[in-house]
Amino acid sequence: MTDCMENDPTFATRAIHVGNDPEQWNHLAVVPPISMATTFKQHAPAEFKHYEYGRSGNPTRSCLEKCLASTENAKHGLTFASGLAATTTITHILSTGDHIIAMDDLYGGTNRYFRRVVSRLGIQIDFVDATNPKNVAAAMKPNTKMVWSETPTNPTMKLVDIAAVASIVKEHGGAFLVVDNTFMSPYLQRPLDLGADIVLHSVTKYVNGHSDVIMGAVCTNRDDLHDQLRFLQNSIGPVPSPFDCYLVNRSLKTLALRMEQHMKNGLAVAKFLEKHPCVDKVIHPGLPSHPQHELSKRQCFGYSGMLSFYLKGNDLEISKKFFQQLKVFTLAESLGGHESLCELPSVMTHASVPKEMREKLGITDGLIRLSCGLESTDDLIQDLDQALKAVVQK
Ligand SMILES: Cc1ncc(COP(=O)(O)O)c(C=O)c1O
Repeated sequence: MTDCMENDPTFATRAIHVGNDPEQWNHLAVVPPISMATTFKQHAPAEFKHYEYGRSGNPTRSCLEKCLASTENAKHGLTFASGLAATTTITHILSTGDHIIAMDDLYGGTNRYFRRVVSRLGIQIDFVDATNPKNVAAAMKPNTKMVWSETPTNPTMKLVDIAAVASIVKEHGGAFLVVDNTFMSPYLQRPLDLGADIVLHSVTKYVNGHSDVIMGAVCTNRDDLHDQLRFLQNSIGPVPSPFDCYLVNRSLKTLALRMEQHMKNGLAVAKFLEKHPCVDKVIHPGLPSHPQHELSKRQCFGYSGMLSFYLKGNDLEISKKFFQQLKVFTLAESLGGHESLCELPSVMTHASVPKEMREKLGITDGLIRLSCGLESTDDLIQDLDQALKAVVQK
């Protein structure tokens, strides 16, 4: 148990059963079949039972979308070929002349997409520090259409007060709030319940959790946004494969259990590192030293396995040596899988963020990001300990 809000006791049941009723199949299969058909027989021209063509709808995808929506307490769920495909599809709701307010600390790929792709479409973007909701209010313009945030942010683990920003967006009217919930999963944070209009996941991360699927998802309670997004999903076409949908639907069955272990490992590693003499600072929302620890307790149901820390010396060569010593943690991009990963955002996930912006955000060559997996807690701590000692001794 953590010191956070109490979680919904029905979560695990919904993640197993919603959208998965065996009665929907003639053969009463307990596990949804992988339906590979790209097209479906029509009784008469334009008269079909449920599905018409694989891009516009697929039975395996529908099971997943219903199940996923239920985990976010959402009315609607849609899946995409990647997290960025989901981001792109949401952004297509906007038109030339519209304005976006984006959190200044975002996944590097989202930042690059807004700066280098969306800005070319005549859509204006302002990056603001949304940890202070007043900055969002101050950046609002008459043509602001979308406010985009991550919480916790990647990789500096800053939090955005979702309820406070949602009320600013609502007051403005005409704009919608998107929260990228990738770092938390719906088990640990449900932005729609706090007033967000759309929640997005890089399903590639915790939701799938096995590092073998690239996928994105979008959930919403708003019929108008869902109608536009479903139209765009079909019109743009970035849909996931039925096999990937099958895998993610299967992964959802263990999401609650997995997140409990990620949380346990992440907190234990953060507490261990915070006391370590080779570490300057640890950033984990579950530590009382995190400046937004109280907000975290109020808005989340716990903590994921994500944390970042500054290695003493703040130097690229020292960081490289540290990575070479690790035996259980693997040096790789991505996060949220069963295996523990480590990375250096300044030259890996966030290399595409301009240097000045990285420096302002504290993404230095000494900032290391960890994704604590599902291994035994002691093995993770021992691995970090031996790597830190080896680096210091050299
Ligand atoms: C927070 C966050 N959002 C979105 C994405 C993009 O997702 P994908 O890699 O599935 O396109 C990532 C990828 O790392 C991410 O970390």
